[in-house]
Amino acid sequence: MEFIREYADWFYLIGAVLFILTLRGLSGPKTAIAGNRYGMIAMAIAVLTTFFVADNPVVWMIVGAMVLGAIVGIARARTVPMTQMPETVALMHSLVGLAAVLIAIAAIIHNNKLVELGPDLLAANGINFHEMSKVHLFELFVGCFVGAITFTASVFAYGKLAAKKWAKTISGAWVKPVQALIFIAMLGFGIHFFLTGNMISFWAMTGLALAFGWVWIAPVGGGDMPVVVSLLNSFSGWAAAGIGFTLENNMLIVAGSLVGSSGAILSYIMCKAMNRSIINVLFGGAMGGAAAPTAGAGEQVQRNYRSGSADDAGFLMSNADSVVIVPGYGMAQGRAQNAVKELANLLKEQGVTVRFAIHPVAGRMPGHMNVLLAEADVPYEDILEMDEINSDFPATDVVLVIGANDVVNPAAKDDPNSPIYGMPILEAHKARTIMVIKRSMATGYAGLDNDLFYNDKTMMIFGDAKKVVEDMTKSINGTGH
Ligand code: TAP
Repeated sequence: MEFIREYADWFYLIGAVLFILTLRGLSGPKTAIAGNRYGMIAMAIAVLTTFFVADNPVVWMIVGAMVLGAIVGIARARTVPMTQMPETVALMHSLVGLAAVLIAIAAIIHNNKLVELGPDLLAANGINFHEMSKVHLFELFVGCFVGAITFTASVFAYGKLAAKKWAKTISGAWVKPVQALIFIAMLGFGIHFFLTGNMISFWAMTGLALAFGWVWIAPVGGGDMPVVVSLLNSFSGWAAAGIGFTLENNMLIVAGSLVGSSGAILSYIMCKAMNRSIINVLFGGAMGGAAAPTAGAGEQVQRNYRSGSADDAGFLMSNADSVVIVPGYGMAQGRAQNAVKELANLLKEQGVTVRFAIHPVAGRMPGHMNVLLAEADVPYEDILEMDEINSDFPATDVVLVIGANDVVNPAAKDDPNSPIYGMPILEAHKARTIMVIKRSMATGYAGLDNDLFYNDKTMMIFGDAKKVVEDMTKSINGTGH
């Protein structure tokens, strides 16, 4: 025990290095399992070391909380379906925010109690007390309000993603002034607390920060929630780093900063891939025409398009040399990944080269397609990122687009007036033949028509992704119809 106390900083350093290796491991599917293991070891080292360095650990409380947390965590991990991951993650961020608030409150109340006792009494009881420094007050002030905002914003994001009735999007001219008012008042009370240590100001700041988290996120459109969740992930990291300063715990400062910066980088990457700016997502509501998700019912269109059957498509693909599959939100929605994998295997058996092309924001959460394809055991080497595959499209015989729309919309490249102009896309339109599986001519998330569907080289195959893909497999196998 003494040994751990003496070398605590070394253990923390080992933990921090392992956390960095975790992030590195998680950046690729092949190394992700190792990355997860590093994370588990790092967390175990961090928790155990902290346990032993604590002055007077209230053992039963700590163990009790850990056991309770483990039971809830294991139960949730076993039962949560992949489709509910974004809201589960949002809920977890809310807990980090809440922890930051509670720790800040505890630290202040504890300090005030010591002040009340007075230095003489403390000294008589062998307690070495230094009055809270301004730096310390500042950490508490920032940690507390970042934590409070993270808490309510994450709870709202959870409600929104889980389609709860209480998580209604708010809109109107009053929203921005109210946001600004609450924010300024929160800062005002925070600064007053920082300067005077006044507890009423502290409580007012905390209450206003909780309210701000709500009114800040409530106007954001449902489709932008994944970016918001990623940003809240970053916030929860900074809140944890803030707690690290309060508790003078180096491990927490390092781990919190890693989460904070990686979350910020991910938010940036997502916004870039969607051609949105983070400011617009958070404060502008919809930007241009690229806006909230569309209902998906058939709207428009007078233009001509060609449609075909699963049989036609099966025939063409089995006679091709190369097929590139472009999955999108519709594959997730139709839970078609296993059927898609079977189709790919069958084509491969027939000597066709089959690869998958993944756009960074295909679907509705980062890595959505990668996760689904991994779940279906599609080999990693068959899955290519946008930059790796784009130059191969002109030499590809057939592109099979399964429930993707915006990520293959050529307007992003060709039409400067398009709201998604500038967004990088998978250049499926350059392939020799294009097949698109979707249920109708409806638009995707960005609410835009897609020229690809009217291209002379394109055949639309209407129907639910899973059903159509299964029919294609049957047709190639010669067992269908
Ligand atoms: P979308 O552009 O949203 O298009 C999906 C298409 O799938 C729809 O046009 C829909 O057409 C079709 N579909 C839906 N359910 C289907 C089913 N069961 N079977 C067959 N087709 C089905 O998807 P995308 O190309 O993947 O692009 C993603 C969009 O989401 C981008 O605009 C991106 O910016 C945005 N976004 C992404 C993220 C992340 S992190 N991935 C986060 C927020 C927003 P029908 O209704 O006609 O079937």
